Amino acid sequence: VPSGVFQVSGSPINQGNVDEAPLKFSLVLPTYKEAGNIQDIVKILTDLLDQSIAGDYELIVVDDNSPDHTWKLALELTSDYPQLKVMRRTEEKGLSTAVIRGWQVARGNILGVIDADLQHPPEVLQQLLGEMDKGADLAVASRHVEGGGVSEWSIIRRFLSRGAQMLGLIILPEVIGRLSDPMSGYFMVRRTAIAGKPLSPVGYKILIEVTARGKIRWLGEAGYVFRERQAGESKVTWKQYIEYLQHLVRLRLSLSARFIQFCLVGFSGLFVDLTVFSLLRKGLELGLTRSTILSAEVAIINNFLWNDLWTFRDISSRQPGKRQRLKRFIKFNFVCLAGVILQTLLVNTFFAIFQKLQLDTTIANITTNGFLRGVLTSDLLAK
Ligand code: GDD
Ligand code: MN
Repeated sequence: VPSGVFQVSGSPINQGNVDEAPLKFSLVLPTYKEAGNIQDIVKILTDLLDQSIAGDYELIVVDDNSPDHTWKLALELTSDYPQLKVMRRTEEKGLSTAVIRGWQVARGNILGVIDADLQHPPEVLQQLLGEMDKGADLAVASRHVEGGGVSEWSIIRRFLSRGAQMLGLIILPEVIGRLSDPMSGYFMVRRTAIAGKPLSPVGYKILIEVTARGKIRWLGEAGYVFRERQAGESKVTWKQYIEYLQHLVRLRLSLSARFIQFCLVGFSGLFVDLTVFSLLRKGLELGLTRSTILSAEVAIINNFLWNDLWTFRDISSRQPGKRQRLKRFIKFNFVCLAGVILQTLLVNTFFAIFQKLQLDTTIANITTNGFLRGVLTSDLLAK
């Protein structure tokens, strides 16, 4: 890579950088006008990380072409610090996208972010890495757990920060409710938890995006005290509050939309299954097992097409073409295979039971479908 400067494109985090050996940890430092801090933070982080994981980590500075030439200072440091990489962005701007771009070129299995202005105490990295070693998918430095706090914040800033958190809880409870400090910009996440997920946050709060869209089963936290700035100044303005609100609303719509779409497709599948089943049974007088398998397959095709073209179109559009769609379809069929076998067994069982009880046997298929779909839906949604 020429003089350590990266060029990037593309959106989701990849499964791992195949060209180079993976590292344990990649830490992104987003910078904008941090000329007064960059030398110190790089030195402190290096001293700290060399103690525990020397040779197994990298630091990635992502600078948005700062007018104070932070990127240039960082680039000059790379001769003394071989684990330091620098990305200078000229086209794209903003804190969250800076973090994502950094992660996109990262080699680490654990992807982290820390402010470059020394407001985030570097020692906490050890605790966060400890959480990851214990098995966390996401480890967040929090001001609102034991050992956490803010230093000299005004009543107004505290109020705004907590207000923003309350608002988040109302709009996006299932995401914000998991985080004691949803505003934190100091955290690390397992690559596999976000690989392939489209991340597109607006504004500052990348943590919320990661928690909402990543596959986070285990969430660890460590307390930290938000320090006062020694050099440079904060870039937070009213714009960030507006963007935060935008971000919450966008996530709300997108999470709910997918959920509703998914449910609608599920229902349409049920309808298709039952209709085809009764046509085959009553119209063509086919046997129970054959009707079940055929109608299930038609429903599978129905669900696949709706989900591929609609519910998950953002994901499927990343692998365009008829061949790819066919591949996904075959895969989907394999996933459903166990379901169809189970459905056939169940439908025969229910049929026998209903017959014995002298009940209407036509509801055997409905009962089976209801049962199976309940189980399948809850499993798929958990993904
Ligand atoms: N590349 C890039 N582009 N970096 C940026 C940009 C940008 O547009 N804006 C800010 N940064 C960098 C800063 O240089 C700094 O390293 C870090 O992102 C945080 O920016 P600050 O402006 O210092 O933010 P803050 O301290 O007021 O706000 C912080 O609030 C949280 C706690 O409420 C957030 O940044 C969080 O990280 C923090 O935990
Ligand atoms: Mn700051």
